[in-house]
Amino acid sequence: MPTGLGKTIFSEGKQQIHTHALKVKASDLERRNRVPTDLSELLKEGTKESHDRAENTQFVKDFLKGRIKEELFKLATVALYFTYSALEEEMDRNKDNPAFAPLYFPLELHRKEALIKDLQYFYGEDWKEKIECSEATQQYVDRIHHVGQNEPELLVAHAYTRYMGDLSGGQVLKKVAQRALRLPSTEEGIQFYVFGNISSAQQFKQLYRARMNTLDLDKNTKEKIVEEANRAFRFNMQVFDELDKIGKSLAEAQDGGLPVHDGKGDLRKCPYYADKLGPSCPYQGTVALAKQPLVQLMLAACVAVLAGAAAWYMM
Ligand code: HEM
Repeated sequence: MPTGLGKTIFSEGKQQIHTHALKVKASDLERRNRVPTDLSELLKEGTKESHDRAENTQFVKDFLKGRIKEELFKLATVALYFTYSALEEEMDRNKDNPAFAPLYFPLELHRKEALIKDLQYFYGEDWKEKIECSEATQQYVDRIHHVGQNEPELLVAHAYTRYMGDLSGGQVLKKVAQRALRLPSTEEGIQFYVFGNISSAQQFKQLYRARMNTLDLDKNTKEKIVEEANRAFRFNMQVFDELDKIGKSLAEAQDGGLPVHDGKGDLRKCPYYADKLGPSCPYQGTVALAKQPLVQLMLAACVAVLAGAAAWYMM
C-alpha cells in the first residue's frame, strides 16, 4: 500500500487547507484593521457614538415607545420645518458648488414642502402665524446658515445627518407616530416621513454614500466634515432635550398640575409650595386649612354632632 504517498498527499492537503485558512484570516484582519478613507465610512464610524446618544435621549426613547402627545409631535414638526427650511435654502444656494453638487437631490430628498403639508394639517391654513422657532432650533438653524454661506464644504455633514437618518430610523418613527397619534392611514400629518420619489430607501442610501465618496476632499477636510456631523447630532439632541422639557410641562398641565403626596420630606421641594403658588398643593392646602381656628371650631362642632348622632343611634 502506498502509504508513504498517501501520507504525503494528506499532509500536503492539510498544509494547503491550513495555508488557505491563514489567508482567509489575514484578509479578514486586513479588512477589519483597514483605516477607512471613504467619507461615507468615516462618517458612519465617526458618528457611531453620537448616534447611540441620540437614540438614547429621553425624547427619542419615549417616542419609540409611542409615548408622544399630539401637542408635542406638532412642536417637533415645527422644529423640523425651521431646520429643513434652513438646510434646503443652503443646499439650493450650493447646488452648483462642487463641494456639494453631487449630493443635490431636491426631488428625492427635500422635506420643506412635506413639512408645510403637515403643519397645515395640524395648525390649519394660518399655520405660519401660529408657529415660532424655539431657542434650540434657532441655534441649529444659525449654524446651518453659517456653514452654507461660509464653509460650504461642511454642508454635506448636515445633509448626511438628517437625510440618512430620515431614510433609516425615521421610517420606524413614522409607523410609531401614526399608531400613537391615531393619524389617518392616508398619511396626513406624517408627510415628512414619506419619500414619494424614493422607491428603495436602502438603494438610495447606497447611491448617497457613493456620491459622498466622489467629493474631492483632502484628509483634513474629511475630518472636519465628521466633526461637523457630530456637531449636527448635538444640535439635534439639544432640540430633543428641549422638546422633552416641554413635554413634561405639558403633561403636568394636562394632569391638572396637582401632584398628590403624603406631606413627608422637604416641603420646599414641592413645586406647588405655598410660597410660590398659594395653597394649590392638595396635601399642604388641606393641612393649612385645618389649622385655621374657625375651621377647627367647625370641625369640632361636626365631630360633636356626629358623636351625638352615633350615641342616639346606639341607644
Ligand atoms: C429613533 C431612533 C433611531 C433609530 C431606531 C435609528 C435607526 C437607524 C438605523 C437602523 C440605521 C442604519 C441604516 C442603514 O445602515 O441602512 C440608522 C442610520 C443612521 N441614522 Fe439613525 N436611528 C435613530 C435616530 C437617529 C437620529 C436622531 C439621527 C440624527 C439626527 C440619526 C441619524 C442616522 C444617520 C445619519 C444614519 C446613517 C448611518 C450611515 O449609514 O452612515 N438616527 N439609524
